[in-house]
Amino acid sequence: MSPSDSHRDDPVGVAANAPAICSIRGLGRYLPERQLTNVDLEKVVDTSDEWIFQRTGIRSRRVMPEDWITSDLAVAAAQRALADADLPLTAIDQMILATVTPDHLCPSTACVVHHKLGMKNVPAFDISVACSGFGYALSIAAAGIVAGMHHNVLVIGAEAMTRFMNYEDRTSCILFGDGAGAAVVSKEGRFDLLYTDNGADGSMADMIEIPGGGSREPASEGTLQERRHFVVLRGREVFKSAVRQMSQSTRDAAEALGIQVSDIDWMVPHQANARIIEAVGEQLGLPAERVVVDLEDKGNTTAASIPIAFTGLYEQGRFEPGQLIALVGFGAGAAWSCQILRVRG
Ligand SMILES: CC(C)(COP(=O)(O)OP(=O)(O)OC[C@H]1O[C@@H](n2cnc3c(N)ncnc32)[C@H](O)[C@@H]1OP(=O)(O)O)[C@@H](O)C(=O)NCCC(=O)NCCS
Repeated sequence: MSPSDSHRDDPVGVAANAPAICSIRGLGRYLPERQLTNVDLEKVVDTSDEWIFQRTGIRSRRVMPEDWITSDLAVAAAQRALADADLPLTAIDQMILATVTPDHLCPSTACVVHHKLGMKNVPAFDISVACSGFGYALSIAAAGIVAGMHHNVLVIGAEAMTRFMNYEDRTSCILFGDGAGAAVVSKEGRFDLLYTDNGADGSMADMIEIPGGGSREPASEGTLQERRHFVVLRGREVFKSAVRQMSQSTRDAAEALGIQVSDIDWMVPHQANARIIEAVGEQLGLPAERVVVDLEDKGNTTAASIPIAFTGLYEQGRFEPGQLIALVGFGAGAAWSCQILRVRG
């Protein structure tokens, strides 16, 4: 049964006619095969499979091959999105890569991906918005298309999170995994973008960080010894803020489109923790089968999590014409994102 059969008598009111800003024409994702399981982590830090699974819903996370770097993940996902969009590479006239785990601080990883894909001359750049990066990148792509500056924009979320884990810190190293997801954004496509809104609150900037290696704490023997080049977070605070903001973003989107939250057929939230996602679903009154949890064998892949979960459903053929999909992100910054898409008929 599709979710829409269970909750909707009429086609969605205003959103059924809402004009499309632009559209997603193709989707792709890449997940490394190797799994780092909770049982593997039990041998490294003082934790247990039971604790991790109960508190997060995660059983294992992906780890890319040792000789891979973030740009390799991005290329693999991008090639699949391009094939799905059925467009030649030469049709792409902008590329945006969302990542907080770049190949290096300078130059952008987008430029490395550009070269590996064989692109010529078109603009390419990184954005650093952590778990909301894919939503922000979609917005930038949409703006360029609406302005008539671009026709087909390649948007990628790619993360090598396991390279930035402190495997002596059980509060963070259990959470994250590697992966990439990509979308080709065009005027016409499979998923019409009806709404996009993003936000940030910099007062929460120290809630999740990689403190060392930037201008505040340049790399030094001290930063290495103190393991300042890895992710640190205050998980409980993130948890509460994520539930509050993701629920609010979804309510705001529904109001702006003149629909009820219950009109949303699929909620594809950032995959940080199954309990966060379940709490958001409960706050919004959405049935669990419409709120996507896709982290048991992936962990949190930061900017890649939303396109990975979205592409997974798409590849399984789960979407039906007219359905509404909410992509909702929250993470470091704090920064959040919300996009509403309608499946083309
Ligand atoms: C990290 C997270 C799983 C912790 O779950 P929690 O229920 O909030 O647990 P707490 O942090 O309150 O810790 C509870 C206890 O478990 C312990 N603990 C923490 N990590 C543990 C682990 N891996 N294994 C076993 N025990 C652990 C803590 O030390 C604490 O012990 P104490 O009570 O003796 O002090 C959860 O808060 C979370 O997922 N937060 C969001 C994650 C995030 O920031 N993601 C990135 C951005 S989206």
